[in-house]
Amino acid sequence: MTPGVRPLIAGNWKMNGTLREAAALAEGVRAGLEGVRGADLLICPPFVHLHVAAASMGWKAVAIGGQDCAAEPNGAHTGDVSAAMLSDAGCAFVILGHSERRADRGETDVLVKAKAGAAIEAGLIPVVCVGETEAQRDSGEAEAVVAAQIAGSLPEGFTEAKGVVAYEPVWAIGTGRTPTEGDIVAMHARMRAELVARFPGQGGTTRLLYGGSVKPSNAASILALANVDGALVGGASLKAADFLAIAAAVPA
Ligand code: 13P
Repeated sequence: MTPGVRPLIAGNWKMNGTLREAAALAEGVRAGLEGVRGADLLICPPFVHLHVAAASMGWKAVAIGGQDCAAEPNGAHTGDVSAAMLSDAGCAFVILGHSERRADRGETDVLVKAKAGAAIEAGLIPVVCVGETEAQRDSGEAEAVVAAQIAGSLPEGFTEAKGVVAYEPVWAIGTGRTPTEGDIVAMHARMRAELVARFPGQGGTTRLLYGGSVKPSNAASILALANVDGALVGGASLKAADFLAIAAAVPA
């Protein structure tokens, strides 16, 4: 945790579920909110499920986010969704630069930065993902890789827009493996230092999330670590009870 920073627990639903299942999951999260006091909640359904999730939340109890947006504001970009469209559909946030998009869709730091700029322009809060591969960690490059991603992917105005950075080691996503607590603390300290150096005003209170195999059984210990201001949760966010248990694990 970072003193004075309210943690954020974000669920990345990825490409899962039917419309009916999305509505039920959103409703399950909403129904269990009384047990969550110490954190803000965010759910990020697939584009076509955003509206039903936002409606289920009464458009406010839990924030809604997209999982990507276009860098362009509008126009002839078949298959893309603009940041303004996400805002119009009830989103306050958008995940950008997830490793699955960097690896599977060839997204570069330059593109992620342009998308984050477009998100800010549309009034959305970007959640920019960074993280090293297993080979990069094994060769001792993890911190340098993440520092370069932060330098390359965050646009000017990122901290004023309350932008969020999520550290997700690629090898920890969906694998059940997590870094040691010492490795998470070291990486988040490095991320904090990079943010403070670049954004002296607000880099000290920018939310830094950890993501990668977060579940109810490890949430309390991870969320108590220095400079860990919440979690970006994949698989465990598809079960309302697990997502709520992670959120309830935020230290009071
Ligand atoms: P898992 O929680 O399934 O490891 O996924 C993490 C993630 O990629 C969230 O964006």
